[in-house]
Amino acid sequence: MTPIRNTHEQWGSIQRTFHWGIVLLVLIQLIFGFVIYSVGGKGAPEVARFWHPSLGITIGALMLLRLGWRLANPIPETPRDIVPSMQGISKFTHYGLYALLILQPLVGYVLVSAFGHSPEWFGVAMPPIVGKSPHIAHVFGYMHGAIAFLILGFLALHIMGALQHELVLRDNVLPRMLPGLAMTPERQARQEGDTVDLRNAVRTWVRRDNVTPSKRAG
Ligand code: HEM
Ligand code: HEM
Repeated sequence: MTPIRNTHEQWGSIQRTFHWGIVLLVLIQLIFGFVIYSVGGKGAPEVARFWHPSLGITIGALMLLRLGWRLANPIPETPRDIVPSMQGISKFTHYGLYALLILQPLVGYVLVSAFGHSPEWFGVAMPPIVGKSPHIAHVFGYMHGAIAFLILGFLALHIMGALQHELVLRDNVLPRMLPGLAMTPERQARQEGDTVDLRNAVRTWVRRDNVTPSKRAG
């Protein structure tokens, strides 16, 4: 059974629920955002104009709770076979996603305030944090669009990293974040193994998957 709290080996059920719940909300949020973008702010369908700020504020609040939970818990160790530069990219991507998904709702909130409206969270009017200002709206509107593309870029890096762990290195990194899936002893052993050269791992992977057993026997 997955423990509630994180351990040094795996993410706990709370952190996994935060992870996959927020993945779902961010995907819906990006779709609503680009619908609003493609039809131009005011002409956007009511459903997007209602859900986008409400979901966005929810994502920001969940990210803050998630950050608190992460700081109060141990973090699973990085597999030993990951070279320091890759570890650096992985950390940078995780911190980046936290920063962007906390910043983006704030920028959206300022944007709606600068349009001269009260941002609404599921029908509840929240206090605007700046007065009506076309100049601030222009700058923050630009930032909101740019941050959305940064989020997409960080997500692409992040997903490539997850796929590399799962398909090439075959360690425990994906199973220890998936809901309910336990880590296998075989993968755990590989995770604790000595440093391996990534190029060698890719070569082994290509050989294993592209050669049929009959060819291998021959
Ligand atoms: C993680 C949270 C969020 C993401 C990923 C996100 C993403 C996006 C994207 C991709 C767009 C279209 C690009 C653009 O027009 O700039 C957009 C537009 C917009 N978003 Fe967000 N957003 C988030 C949170 C929020 C929040 C919390 C609010 C308000 C409280 C908000 C208000 C708006 C508004 C008003 C627009 C239309 C901008 C315009 O008409 O120029 N967003 N958002
Ligand atoms: C909106 C989409 C996503 C966001 C914002 C996100 C964010 C994060 C963050 C911040 C972490 C660091 C751990 C933490 O503090 O919770 C993490 C870990 C992880 N994510 Fe994602 N993620 C997203 C999508 C995905 C997808 C689609 C996959 C799989 C293909 C994935 C696989 C993983 C894995 C395997 C870990 C664990 C890394 C480790 O144990 O070292 N994530 N994610």
